[in-house]
Amino acid sequence: MSTVGRMGSDPREADAPAGTVPAGAPGAPAGRSTTPRTEPAKRAPAKRAPRASKSPAVPAGRPAPGARSSTRASRAPRASARDRLGSPASGVLITGAASGIGRATALALVEVGRPVALWDLDAAGLEETVTLCRRRPRSVAHGSVVDVADSAAVAAAVPEAAASLGSLGGFVHAAGVSGPMSVDFIDDDLWDATLNVNVRAAAMIAKALIEPFRAAGPGSAAVLISSIEGLFGSAMLTAYCASKGGVLGVMRSIAQRFAMEGFRVNAVCPGAVATPMLAPAFELPGFRQQLEERTPLHRVATPDEIARPIRFLLSDEASFVTGAHLTIDGGLTAVTAI
Ligand SMILES: NC(=O)c1ccc[n+]([C@@H]2O[C@H](COP(=O)([O-])OP(=O)(O)OC[C@H]3O[C@@H](n4cnc5c(N)ncnc54)[C@H](O)[C@@H]3O)[C@@H](O)[C@H]2O)c1
Repeated sequence: MSTVGRMGSDPREADAPAGTVPAGAPGAPAGRSTTPRTEPAKRAPAKRAPRASKSPAVPAGRPAPGARSSTRASRAPRASARDRLGSPASGVLITGAASGIGRATALALVEVGRPVALWDLDAAGLEETVTLCRRRPRSVAHGSVVDVADSAAVAAAVPEAAASLGSLGGFVHAAGVSGPMSVDFIDDDLWDATLNVNVRAAAMIAKALIEPFRAAGPGSAAVLISSIEGLFGSAMLTAYCASKGGVLGVMRSIAQRFAMEGFRVNAVCPGAVATPMLAPAFELPGFRQQLEERTPLHRVATPDEIARPIRFLLSDEASFVTGAHLTIDGGLTAVTAI
């Protein structure tokens, strides 16, 4: 099991030991002032979904084999503490937060007042993200070096993240591995790393999040990052395509399971985004220009253009969206090549 190093913190609670609730975090005695909002179900009582009936044969929250409506908690999200978009103000775990889309997502979430737990292998990049988050007033951000491919480390680090933020009701899986590999040159190590980080880690983290999500409440939600390579093929990206298609499969499976608890799970499928992951491809002569010519919006995305739709999917604005994927590619996959 890899070690989990904790770094950075809320400026108001420097060096608070793991397990303490930072001032201002949800659940803290003197929490940040939030405006209580009317719960959606109260706004439209006539449309309130029926509460799930309790079955003594099925322990709370556990899916019974073949069980259907009796274990489904199809409640509208309950209002408690709210962020500035009127969404749950519970903490959000973000993997791959040292760079690119993960970092942009951290910044987008602290901007609306959500505390964030940030994981990555890259300690220096993580520290930078924590510093950037701390520039936002009243932000709460913790960084931890966690190898998401290490399932034991993940199982230990999730409760730590929940304790450090006071609650954990959101998850964004942005950690990712890519590398050129056609079927002619399958490389076992790159195959395993790609599948373990991109797909297996998402499932292992989701497994560890069931208890924290229950504690945080029914507005809890997760977003996994797939890709347009999960929808279409690319000859030079065999393992990556397999992993991103796998992310969508895992997302749909977990979405069904988590719906029994009232939690939502979705995915985004970005096209080309200007991050370090795409930098080697941008070095190839003509690659970027060709891509931009084929894209209806004639450019690649900024990481923030992926982060904001992720923030929407985590929020109560998307309260009836689950098991879905959102393509964010400037129209690239909406047009034919003819
Ligand atoms: N950039 C694009 O064009 C693009 C397009 C579609 C999908 N995506 C996906 O978006 C996600 C984010 O990618 P990005 O473009 O921001 O890339 P990035 O390289 O900037 O960020 C990926 C991060 O994941 C971290 N990481 C890798 N292995 C890890 C591990 N074992 N444990 C913890 N952290 C680990 C890296 O250190 C890095 O900080 C990835 O899943 C990627 O596949 C990217």
